[in-house]
Parts: sequence; structure tokens; C-alpha cells
Amino acid sequence: MDRRLPRGHRLLPLLGLLLGGSVLAQPAPSSMETQARAQRFYAQVCARCHETGIGPVITGRNLPAAFYVAMARSGRNAMPAFRVSDIDDATLQALGEYLAATPAQAAQGAKQ
Ligand code: HEC
Repeated sequence: MDRRLPRGHRLLPLLGLLLGGSVLAQPAPSSMETQARAQRFYAQVCARCHETGIGPVITGRNLPAAFYVAMARSGRNAMPAFRVSDIDDATLQALGEYLAATPAQAAQGAKQ
């Protein structure tokens, strides 16, 4: 009788290890996770310049995804270059695709 409780307690961490291990063993994060990370990166990093007038508007411009990727990796003048340690290739690619697909902003034309 006394033994049942400790035994169960010993199994719980083992179960956690097994579950944790199977999550880590997945080859790549799901594309939804990558997309979410990409959009967070835009909101937290790119938007600080690109939605504040420091850099030009980069959404709704019908620019190709590869252009965003190239700009982010190389930088230009006041635009900093981002390394793989800042944003990995898969996330940057997802970011480029996300920005390339942003719809043209009606307000842009109306302002002029
Ligand atoms: C520190 C401010 C800053 C941050 C952060 C930043 N940019 Fe920029 N970006 C700029 C500036 C300034 C320019 C204009 C560069 C120039 O003088 O040509 C620019 C230009 C660009 C252009 C070219 C736009 C055009 O019309 O030619 C793209 C694309 C771009 N940035 C993408 C990004 C992306 C994607 C991110 C996030 C990963 C990002 N930028 C983060 C400041 C920033």
C-alpha cells in the first residue's frame, strides 16, 4: 500500500521526459509557428522603424519576398543588417512572404 504513491511520483517525471523528448525530436517547427514568429519579429523589430517614419513603408508595396530577405540580410544606409542569429532563414523567408502579401493601403494614395 505504502509503495503505490512513491511509484506514481517516480513515473511522472519520466512521462514528462518522454513527452518533452518527442516534442524536441520534431525536425522543424510548424509553418504556423514560423509565421507567428515572423509576424512578431516584424511588429517588434521592423515596425519600430518602418511604421514610425524612420524607414519607408514596406507593407502593401507589392515587393517580392526575396527583396525583403535580401534587404534584411544586407542592410542599406541606416537600415541595419540582420544576421542568422537575429532571425533564422526560415523565419526571415516567412517574414518576406508575409510582407509581400500585405494588401496595398488605400490610405497611402488618399494622402497625396
Ligand atoms: C533601425 C531602423 C530599421 C529597422 C529596425 C529595419 N529597417 Fe528596413 N529600412 C530602414 C531605413 C532607414 C531604410 C531606408 C534605407 C535607405 O536609405 O535606402 C530601410 C529600408 C528597407 C527596405 C527597402 C525599402 C525600399 O523602398 O527600398 C526594406 C525592404 C526593409 N527596409 C525591410 C526591413 C525589414 C524586413 C526589417 C525587419 C527585419 C527592417 N527593414 C528593419 C530602417 C530600418
